[in-house]
Amino acid sequence: MANIIDGKLVSAKVKQEVAEQTAKLKEQGIVPGLAVIIVGDDPASRVYVNNKKKACEAVGFYSEEYAMPAATTMEQLLEVIDTLNERKDINGILCQLPLPSHLDEKAVIDRIDTSKDVDAFSPVNVGKIMIGDYDFLPCTPAGVMELLKHYDIDVCGKNCVVIGRSNIVGKPMGMLLLHQNGTVTICHSRTKNLAEICRTADILVAAVGRANFVTADMVKDGAVVIDVGMNRVDGKLCGDVAYDEVEKKASFITPVPGGVGPMTIGMLMKNTLKAAKLHNNIED
Ligand code: GUN
Repeated sequence: MANIIDGKLVSAKVKQEVAEQTAKLKEQGIVPGLAVIIVGDDPASRVYVNNKKKACEAVGFYSEEYAMPAATTMEQLLEVIDTLNERKDINGILCQLPLPSHLDEKAVIDRIDTSKDVDAFSPVNVGKIMIGDYDFLPCTPAGVMELLKHYDIDVCGKNCVVIGRSNIVGKPMGMLLLHQNGTVTICHSRTKNLAEICRTADILVAAVGRANFVTADMVKDGAVVIDVGMNRVDGKLCGDVAYDEVEKKASFITPVPGGVGPMTIGMLMKNTLKAAKLHNNIED
């Protein structure tokens, strides 16, 4: 039976640390500020945005929400971003994805001032991660690394297999594991012999977006299994890993919910705090 990796616990610890540092900044008259933009009425995005706002309140940040209608034009959205880029009291700007299909996500991300890009989605910040010289790490992969660190799971020299090659999770996940000296394989929908490759993994990260995709036959005995999936099946949240069967083989496993999910918001708080420090020339 696997040890359960408790994302709620580790996220609470991260948020506690952010809250303590925020209290110190406030003594200097600095309040970190996060602006969250949501376009349209996607119910999942609404839940995520509400949770981000709640977390801001809990750690002592100032936050603002821009809820814009689904018919918002690029001009309108870019105008909001331009205004937020100029604001001294806003340190982080996050535009919740996905955007309605008529909007150009790449152009929107590109417009956010790179020093306020707390998602670390902009090409500049992605490039900085690539060379290992970064201010912000993308929240979900950074959250996974924080979980591994908390549970003393050493990545150095391990076979790390990431399933999924998205810009938000798969690709940066591979890079962060590589920075910790893991031997990284990134698999995707065209990968041949997927199960065989997964069975070589000491650390297996599933970021596929398909419920129960990773089954026990794809997992080596004693592997660490990280489930980034957030799928809705009959209204119930479930991950990419067939938890009940994989849990019997893994040494560590993240549950869904309560694993990687809560970490994402914790890391967003960390990035926003970092942005506030950078904007005020305060050493980290
Ligand atoms: N949609 C799903 N995850 C994320 C995230 O981490 N950031 C943003 N901006 N949108 C998302």
